[in-house]
Amino acid sequence: MDRTASRTTPEDITAAVVSSFDGCDDNRLREIMQALARHLHAFASEVRLTPREWEEAVRVLTATGHITDDRRQEFILWSDSMGLSMLVDALANPLPPGATESTVLGPFYVPGSPAREYGESMAEEAAGVPAWVYGRVLSVDGSPIAGAELDVWQNGDDELYAVQRAEAPEDHLRGRYTTREDGSYAFLAVRPVPYPIPYDGPVGAMLDASGRHPWRPAHIHMIVRAPGFKSVTTHIFDRESEYLDSDAVFAVKPSLLRDFVQRSADDPETPAGVEGDWVSLENDIVLAPEANGGT
Ligand code: BEZ
Ligand code: FE
Repeated sequence: MDRTASRTTPEDITAAVVSSFDGCDDNRLREIMQALARHLHAFASEVRLTPREWEEAVRVLTATGHITDDRRQEFILWSDSMGLSMLVDALANPLPPGATESTVLGPFYVPGSPAREYGESMAEEAAGVPAWVYGRVLSVDGSPIAGAELDVWQNGDDELYAVQRAEAPEDHLRGRYTTREDGSYAFLAVRPVPYPIPYDGPVGAMLDASGRHPWRPAHIHMIVRAPGFKSVTTHIFDRESEYLDSDAVFAVKPSLLRDFVQRSADDPETPAGVEGDWVSLENDIVLAPEANGGT
């Protein structure tokens, strides 16, 4: 054995892993794998990751795989709770000034919501204080967009989305609305309430162990689509909600805060079918043109 040979250092190990991808023909894959190796090794070196902590990380990843199925995506919850989903979205969607900002999609979106009429209620059973949500969909140049689609979903005052309750009507608290010739839309929602992200799995354990809470501030989700414009996945946040400063998934953007206005049962504008007090909320949406004309 050559006792004069130099010792292998942590830097040698990182360099060997990075160079192992030198022969990768796919430039983008090579860039990603080499950067991943560098940053992963830098992270472990910075915190001086111990073997016990490494074992714990493997245990957490294994538990994440075990709890993930068709209805529960714990890996995305990790991404959301670490702010990665918001970061990836921000990097991919730089928008012109004035365009409505995007935010996280979340796990409770179910494609195929029913098409609903102007002003129709999304609530198929009692779900909270009625909320008349209205506004216009506009282009960044201020012109109205007719025929834009608003694909809307939200939770009820029990904190749950319909998809979280097996007994809920399938189309409860969701619907697709289309703008009129002047770009206007309206729908009858309920005032959303804050709710916790699913916290009975590894992400919840991480939040708990690190002194973070699982709550999201009250919001209504929507995806707005129109031919010739970039679709936007966004929220309307209730400006009076708790947790705006500590959203568990870092999805609050100040430009998305809106005011619910208190209205009484004797208000002449009370929407059909509404009994008792209600609230209204005005929310214009501004879309950026698609660079190459598609959606
Ligand atoms: C939601 O707003 O529906 C949501 C977003 C991220 C994680 C969990 C829930
Ligand atoms: Fe949500």
